[in-house]
Amino acid sequence: MGYCINHPEIETRYLCMKHNIYLCEHCLECRDPDIYCKFRSSCAIHFISKKGFDSKTQKSLSKEFSVVFLPDDVRIKIPKGTTLLEAAQKADIYVNASCNGQGSCGKCRLILESGTLGNKPTSLLSDREKENGYMLACQTKIADNIVIRIPEETLEKKLKTAGMGVDATQNLAGLVQKFDPMVKKYTLKLEPPTMEDTVSDLERLKRNLRRAKCDTVKMSSGIRVMRQLTQAVRQDNWKVTASVLQKKCSLELVDVRPVSQEEKSLGMAVDIGTTSIVVYLVDMQTGEVLSAASGHNSQSSCGDDVINRIVCSEKKGIKKLQKMALSTINNLAQRALASLAQSHKNIENITISGNTTMVHLLLGIDARHIRREPYIPTISEFPIIKARNMGLKAAHYAGVFVMPGPAGYVGGDIVSGILYTGFHKKADITLFIDVGTNGEIVLGNNEFLMTAACSAGPAFEGGGIRWGMRAEEGAIEKITLNSETFEPDYITVDNKTARGICGSGMIDLLSEMHIKGVLGQDGRFRINPGHPRMTVFNDESAFILEFAKNIDSEEDIIFTQSDIRSLTLSKAAIYAGFTVLLEEVGMDFSMVDQMIITGGFGQYLDIEKAITIGLFPDIQREKFRYMGNSSIAGAYMALLSNTHRQQAIKISDSMTYVDFSSSTRFMEEFTKAQFLPHTESKLFPSVTRSYLNSPYLN
Ligand code: FES
Repeated sequence: MGYCINHPEIETRYLCMKHNIYLCEHCLECRDPDIYCKFRSSCAIHFISKKGFDSKTQKSLSKEFSVVFLPDDVRIKIPKGTTLLEAAQKADIYVNASCNGQGSCGKCRLILESGTLGNKPTSLLSDREKENGYMLACQTKIADNIVIRIPEETLEKKLKTAGMGVDATQNLAGLVQKFDPMVKKYTLKLEPPTMEDTVSDLERLKRNLRRAKCDTVKMSSGIRVMRQLTQAVRQDNWKVTASVLQKKCSLELVDVRPVSQEEKSLGMAVDIGTTSIVVYLVDMQTGEVLSAASGHNSQSSCGDDVINRIVCSEKKGIKKLQKMALSTINNLAQRALASLAQSHKNIENITISGNTTMVHLLLGIDARHIRREPYIPTISEFPIIKARNMGLKAAHYAGVFVMPGPAGYVGGDIVSGILYTGFHKKADITLFIDVGTNGEIVLGNNEFLMTAACSAGPAFEGGGIRWGMRAEEGAIEKITLNSETFEPDYITVDNKTARGICGSGMIDLLSEMHIKGVLGQDGRFRINPGHPRMTVFNDESAFILEFAKNIDSEEDIIFTQSDIRSLTLSKAAIYAGFTVLLEEVGMDFSMVDQMIITGGFGQYLDIEKAITIGLFPDIQREKFRYMGNSSIAGAYMALLSNTHRQQAIKISDSMTYVDFSSSTRFMEEFTKAQFLPHTESKLFPSVTRSYLNSPYLN
C-alpha cells in the first residue's frame, strides 16, 4: 500500500511498476493529462493484493544494491534503478540539488569511488571532473554495489543565518508589552467539596475559572483532561494550575496539574524559510529569548525554490516534504532545548511564519495549485492547530498559530515583516522588500498595503549559478577588483577556503565588474579574452575568481556569462516589481519615504553596490533600513500576544495582491531593467563608472 502521487490523502494498492509510484483509482480512470495520467497509459500498473506482491513482482522489486556514502560511511540498500540523488535522500544525506533533479544546475556532484554506474551525458561536468569520477547524482541510476564520496563542495556546511545572535534577539526586548499567549495558565485554589457543596470536580474547576474571568461557556474539555482531574485537584490540597487553549471562537481546557508540578512555560517561534529555518525558544513569563538555533531546511535536497518543492511534493508525496521540514524544526528545537536543559514538553505555544508554500508543505496541505494559474493556495488563514496533530515535538496540548498570508506567492513571512516593522501604522510611504528566492515586495502605509512577488529566482541564493552557493562557510561574500589589473580581493564566510560565491558576493562582483568596465552595460564581457583571469567554459567566456591550485580544488572558481545573465534577470525582476507596484498607485521612487530591506540575504548586502547594479533605486541612502529577519521577529510578537495575532490577520486581510505573471507593464519594465544598471541611465545618476583607462579593455 502507498499514497497516490496526485492525491496524497488517498491510500492505494495500485503501483506503477515503471516509475515506482502509487496511483489511486481516480487517476487510473481520469483523462486529465495534468495529473500524470501518462503514467497510467504507458506503464504496467500492479495491483498489490492483501497478501502483498506475487512472487515474480517481489523478485523483480527485491533486486537491491548496497550504496556506501563516504566520508561518513553511511550504508543503505537501494532497489535497482533508483537515482543516486534519491538514494542520498533516503539515507538522509544532504546533497545540494538546486534544480530538484532536472539535471540543469550541476550542483549534485558526487564522486564514484568503486563500482559502476550508468550516467546520462552532461555538459555540466568538465572533462577533468569526469575523469576523476564526478557525476551528477540526479542523472545517475544505481545498477551495482557502489561506494560514493560526497565532495567538499556538495557537503552541507554551517549556514550564516539572519535573526541569530545576541543582537538579533535583544532587539526584541520590550517589543510586546502585554503577554497573552494561546495557552493561558490559571493558578487556582479550589474549595474542597463538602456535603453542602457536591458539584463535580470539573464544575468546581470551572466555577473558579469563571471567577478568574475565563469564559467557561465557550470552553470544552477533552477526555485526557477529565482523566487527570481526580488526582490533579486532590494532590496539592486543591491547588491547581489549569491551562486553557484559546482558539479562534472557543476555549479548550487542555491540562490540569497540581501547582507543585508546574514547570517553566516555553514558547517557540519558527521562521520556516525555503533555504533555512530559525527557531527561538522564549520564556513565556518574561518574553526573553532564551535560546535560538538555525539550519538548512532539509527540503533543499528537493530543489532551491518553491516551485521545485511543489513539483517534488506532487511526484513524491507531500508527506515526504512535510517530514523533512518537521524533522528540521524538531532537531533545531532539540538543539535549542539542550542548551537550556529543558524538555520539549515545556513548549506550550508555537508560532510559525513562512511563505505560503512552505507552510502548506509543513502542514501536509496540497500546494499544487499555488504553481498553476490562477495560483491559489488551499488556505490563507489557519485555525489554531494542536502541535501533536502536526507532528511537532511539544507539550501534547501545545497550540500552534500559523501566520496568515494574503496570496500564493506572498505569505505569512511578509505579514510577520509588516507586523514587526510596523509601517502599516504610519503615514510615511514605505517600500518593503524581503530579498529571498521570491523577492516579495509591499508598498504602503496606514491607508493601504499593495503587495506583489517578483519571481526573482534563486540566483541570489546561489541557484542556477555555476559556483553559486548560500552564505555557508567558504562562500565569497565580499569582493573587490583592482581597477587596473582586475585582480580580485575577497573575503569568505568564516574566513574559510573559498568554495563558491554567495548572493552578497555576487552583487559585489557584478557591481565591481560594471563600474570597472569588465562588463558593458548589456552585461557582456568587455575584457580582453587573453587576460590571465579570463577563460572559456562550455563555449562561453568566464572570469576566474580563484584558481584551482590555490584552493586545492579540481576546478577554478569561475563566473560565467550565463551566471551574469541569471543575476541580471533576478535584479531586473525586483527593480521592475518596484516600478510597476508604484505605478499601480500613481507613485514613483521620489515619493518613497523609507525603504525597508529584510530577509536573511539582506543582512550582508552592500546597499551602494546593490544600487550600482540596478537592484535598488538610486534614492537617498538614508532612506534605506535593514531590519534583519523580520519573519522570526513577527512570529515572536504573535507568540506572546493575542493582539499581535489578531493584527496579523487584519494585515493579511487588508493587503491587495498584484499579480505580475501576466502584466505587460511588468514585462516592459523587466526588459528595461536587464541592463546595468538600467537602459535609462538617468534613473541612476549617482552610478558612475571608472574603467576608461584600463589597458585590458577591448
Ligand atoms: S543537476 Fe542534479 S539536482 Fe540539479
